[in-house]
Amino acid sequence: MFIRRLIFVSALAAASPVAAQVEKPVDPYVQSNANAGATPFTGEQLLAAFHGQDGVGRIVDATIDQGIVDPRTAEIFKATDLVRLRRTLKEQIAYLLGAPVTYTGRDMKSSHKDQGINTAEFNALVEHMQHAMDKEGVPYRAQNQLLSKLAPMKRDVVTR
Ligand code: HEM
Repeated sequence: MFIRRLIFVSALAAASPVAAQVEKPVDPYVQSNANAGATPFTGEQLLAAFHGQDGVGRIVDATIDQGIVDPRTAEIFKATDLVRLRRTLKEQIAYLLGAPVTYTGRDMKSSHKDQGINTAEFNALVEHMQHAMDKEGVPYRAQNQLLSKLAPMKRDVVTR
């Protein structure tokens, strides 16, 4: 009986989204919204154009889903903790769009310093984000407002 219950509980844990969301530890760093790399937009309009934090979540997931299968970028993501990346990127984008969210991830320079990302790879990921925003139905002007916040981060992301 005990064994049967144990098997049941283990099966539950394996199926539980909580169990699937475990992040790997990272070296200590100072948490700050300044790590998001830009100041956020103010007001609620822009976030609404992205369909709120749910919309941001869908856009980030679709961007990463494409980035990890695209042969141009797949290799870069092989060793990445995607649970953490999805969480922190959602926080960062929502924060920049003016959501009442704290960005808890690392700054862009330290996050990407060992990734050896080039301009073509940077552009590939932007392309995926544009497709994801199109799919979400984000108006073109709102898309460009977000991209204008992300573009200057290229100098911290691209290292070769
Ligand atoms: C402006 C563009 C970009 C933004 C805003 C961004 C944002 C982020 C964020 C928030 C993190 C997680 C930070 C943390 O773990 O504390 C991260 C990590 C990462 N990013 Fe980006 N990123 C950008 C461009 C790219 C590009 C172009 C690639 C590859 C093609 C890329 C690959 C990665 C990888 C592999 C990691 C995980 C690093 C690790 O495992 O430590 N990023 N990025």
